[in-house]
Amino acid sequence: MINRINLDKDTELRLLTIQDAPAFLAVINHSRTNISEFLPWVDRVNSLADAHSWIQLRLDKHALGEHMTLGIWKSGTPAGGVMYRSIDHEKHECEIGYWLDDAYVGVGLISTACRWMIRYAFNGLGMDHIVIQCAAKNKRSRALPERLGFALEHFLKDDFVHRGINHDSVLYGLWRSDYLATTPSVV
Ligand SMILES: CC(C)(COP(=O)(O)OP(=O)(O)OC[C@H]1O[C@@H](n2cnc3c(N)ncnc32)[C@H](O)[C@@H]1OP(=O)(O)O)[C@@H](O)C(=O)NCCC(=O)NCCS
Repeated sequence: MINRINLDKDTELRLLTIQDAPAFLAVINHSRTNISEFLPWVDRVNSLADAHSWIQLRLDKHALGEHMTLGIWKSGTPAGGVMYRSIDHEKHECEIGYWLDDAYVGVGLISTACRWMIRYAFNGLGMDHIVIQCAAKNKRSRALPERLGFALEHFLKDDFVHRGINHDSVLYGLWRSDYLATTPSVV
């Protein structure tokens, strides 16, 4: 798999490694309120040791070809991350996830990163179906698959518990055939 991509002259995606733990933690700490609202794992990342463990677990899955977390760097500054949460080579299906530092919300950075993730999933990894799952109440997150041409495929009632509260989820999907039919007009 790829581990470094230049999206434009000052935006880079790079495989998140143990050396990036301080930068990863700094983004989480700076924007903890918003990033943690619907992402339960954020509550378990509170120290450098937690950040190391979080990254190492994902590097282990990456080594098996089942996962990829890329840090997003804007002019050399850590701005967030985008990931294939899972890569299923039998079903040819992967799931994309993402987060941003508050300082970079609202400028299209995740949309740009996800356009690359989508293209690479179909063209580089041979996926047939890409999914994005969000808390039903997470409007900013839902806007992303809707903007990028995904279809709403499932509503999952009481899908996960976060801080003692049950949350519904929505699952969006994009099929390779639909992507090919609409590219470049949608993605
Ligand atoms: C979800 C999250 C990544 C969305 O961030 P975002 O900045 O809204 O997403 P994008 O990068 O796609 O940017 C879209 C915004 O940039 C604007 N924009 C500017 N240029 C753009 C471009 N070229 N392409 C797309 N959008 C652009 C859009 O109008 C939109 O702004 P608006 O909502 O104010 O109208 C962010 O809110 C976040 O980190 N949330 C916390 C973590 C989280 O919930 N993760 C998802 C879990 S499923």
